[in-house]
Formats: sequence, structure tokens, C-alpha cells
Amino acid sequence: MDSDPADFLVRPSRLEDAAAIAELCGQLGYLSTVEQVARRLEQMAGFSFHALYVAETGGQISGWAHVHAYPLPEMDFHAELGGLVVAEAHRGSGVGKALLAAAEEWARRNGCRELWLRSNVIRTEAHRFYQARGYDNIKSQRTFRKRL
Ligand SMILES: CC(C)(COP(=O)(O)OP(=O)(O)OC[C@H]1O[C@@H](n2cnc3c(N)ncnc32)[C@H](O)[C@@H]1OP(=O)(O)O)[C@@H](O)C(=O)NCCC(=O)NCCS
Repeated sequence: MDSDPADFLVRPSRLEDAAAIAELCGQLGYLSTVEQVARRLEQMAGFSFHALYVAETGGQISGWAHVHAYPLPEMDFHAELGGLVVAEAHRGSGVGKALLAAAEEWARRNGCRELWLRSNVIRTEAHRFYQARGYDNIKSQRTFRKRL
């Protein structure tokens, strides 16, 4: 059952959230130090067309969501959810839904008619969460990487 939304708030992130964001990066499967996250937040501040929201429950960061948009030649301007994670202790209390809603609202405000997201095939609970919120699974992909 959801908590009363008054139990938490969603707001744009600040540099001083770096430690809590780093902890949650680990819970998302992307182990990151506080220093790495602080550096990334500073880099992000110089970019347009993205937003990082945090949820705060009882003064503690209970989740974060990152949304961004960039123009492409083959598709109309759309937004993409870069990451979404809720602290293990706070899952199932409505925080994820509120963060996703904030990302969607940012996308609408910035002229995007679609929000896309990519989710590892092993995250079956997250897939149910997204499908219940109106997201369709439109394709499967492989992810390639090359060290430069
Ligand atoms: C997926 C995730 C962001 C959902 O956030 P959350 O705060 O737990 O979700 P909410 O409480 O807002 O919403 C719960 C809804 O999702 C469903 N749900 C999905 N996973 C759940 C979980 N682990 N616990 C409780 N409910 C869950 C519930 O049935 C509920 O649906 P309903 O409101 O239609 O009944 C969160 O579980 C999470 O951080 N998971 C690990 C990281 C991850 O997989 N991120 C997504 C990467 S693409």
C-alpha cells in the first residue's frame, strides 16, 4: 500500500545529495563513489535538457530519477529515462511512481511527446512496474561497448 504522498517529497537534486545518490547507484547495480557522483553532478550542471530528481522521505533521500532528451535525425524529439531507483527500505510506498511522474512532467514541459526507457531483461519487477504505468515493451536490444 502507498504511503500518504505527504510522507515524502520530490525535488530537483542538489550537489550535497551526492552521497545518498551514490549509495542508490550501488543499489541500482552501478557501484559509484561519492566523489564520482559529485563529479558527475557537476558535469551535468553544464548540460541542458535533462533533470535529476530525488525523493526525500523523513529528510533522507529515498530515491532518484534521471530524465534527458536529445535531438536525433531519425526520431522526433523525445525523452529518455536515464535511471530510476528507490532505496530498498522504501520500495512499495509510492516513491517510484512519484519520481516517474516527475520525469514524465519534465518531458511534457520540454516538448517531448514520448518517454522511452531501457531496462535490463533481468529486472522483471521493474518491467511490471513500468507496464502498469502505461509503458509498452516495443523491442529487445543488445548493448555493445568499446573502451576508448
Ligand atoms: C522499480 C522501482 C523503481 C519501483 O519503485 P517503488 O517505489 O518500489 O514503486 P512504487 O511503490 O511507486 O509502486 C509500486 C507499484 O509497483 C509494483 N511494484 C513493483 N515492484 C515492487 C516492489 N519491489 N515492491 C512493491 N511494489 C512493487 C506494485 O505492485 C505497485 O503497483 P500498483 O500501485 O499498481 O499496485 C523500485 O522497485 C526499484 O528501485 N527497483 C530496483 C531498481 C530498478 O530495477 N530500477 C529500474 C531500472 S530500469
